[in-house]
Amino acid sequence: MNIIELEQRYLVQAYSRPPIVFVDGEGVWLEDAQGNRYLDLVAGIAVNALGYGDPELAETICQAGKKPLHYSNLYHNEPMARLAKKLVDLTPFADRVHFQNSGTESTEAAIKFARKFARTHFGEGKSDIVAFTGAFHGRTMGALAATPREKYQKPYEPLMPGVRFAKFNDVDSARQVIDEQVCAIIVEPIQGEGGIHPASVDFLVALRELSHQHQALLIFDEVQCGVGRTGSFWAHEQIGVLPDILCTAKPLANGLPIGAVLVTERVADVIHPGDHGTTFAGGPFVTSVANVVVNRISQPAFLQHVQETGAYFKKRLEALQNSHIQEVRGKGLMLGVQLDIPAGPVVAAGYKHGLLLLNAGSHVLRIVPPLIIDKGEVDIAIERLDAVLTQWT
Ligand SMILES: Cc1ncc(COP(=O)(O)O)c(C=O)c1O
Repeated sequence: MNIIELEQRYLVQAYSRPPIVFVDGEGVWLEDAQGNRYLDLVAGIAVNALGYGDPELAETICQAGKKPLHYSNLYHNEPMARLAKKLVDLTPFADRVHFQNSGTESTEAAIKFARKFARTHFGEGKSDIVAFTGAFHGRTMGALAATPREKYQKPYEPLMPGVRFAKFNDVDSARQVIDEQVCAIIVEPIQGEGGIHPASVDFLVALRELSHQHQALLIFDEVQCGVGRTGSFWAHEQIGVLPDILCTAKPLANGLPIGAVLVTERVADVIHPGDHGTTFAGGPFVTSVANVVVNRISQPAFLQHVQETGAYFKKRLEALQNSHIQEVRGKGLMLGVQLDIPAGPVVAAGYKHGLLLLNAGSHVLRIVPPLIIDKGEVDIAIERLDAVLTQWT
């Protein structure tokens, strides 16, 4: 059996994959078993920010791999402590960090912390979470309950109770559902899976006010839009509204599993030993790598590169004379191309042109390449995308 047959025979068929087996990568390029090269605008779903084969990361991995990979959260470890300090130093609102292993675990932790905070300060009956249409916060039961997509939720009902939904970017709708029983509002500053929809400044300002008014915590889910993706270290920096809890994950260790919540002292104060935990999170191997990623991405020159390359990419997409492109949205290197045709076949056609594309919803192409992509590579991407879309004109 070849690789694809083995996977089809032995894996739970929870994913549908194209008939490509990647074996290597360099920079922003991936290579398959036949030696075909693909320009990667997906980055493992907004994860591989520093691309492939980065020498500093490779060296860090070699060194960290010679030491114990895991001690557990029973004991202290140096790379975790240093990473926590680094993240707090980069995040004006945050005082402390709690590590997880993925994005969904970080939103799960945020929900748990918010409930504990409300119970500690206000007693029973203040446990509801407000989330928004189009949101994606993950697939574990708490995060799933805040992810209003029937296909994801329906098979797993009953869901975690106590989640209310308002319309994204609609202040009146938010106002209608937020009351004293709400312990937290969770929102993505830029919705990723939902189709690359930036939250408006007015909307986030209003959520901050509503959360103060009703003594609820404001949670920013920056799992997809954070860590340099939009050209600032956190997406919310460009808006100037500060949350009480921030969720991060995807690119933090450039492909090794990690998640984290950053919280204020007030939130951290209600969490005590035994309240929440996990075996693996914050281990020395993954946090050694994350230290390098955070160091590199937080450099002003690196963020400037993301801003400039992102603006260039957006401009070139907007200039594409293809009648199926209706709008280009997003910031930095988190861009969404709204099509008037289904995005799935466009993604599939990309493979034949050596271009890895991703959809976000049915009619949106999501462009989230490694953040190291340069303008020359953007030109190649545009040329190939143009060739792909020409099939529909
Ligand atoms: C905004 C957001 N939150 C949470 C998640 C869940 O992260 P993970 O897939 O690592 O569990 C994702 C994943 O796409 C996401 O985009």
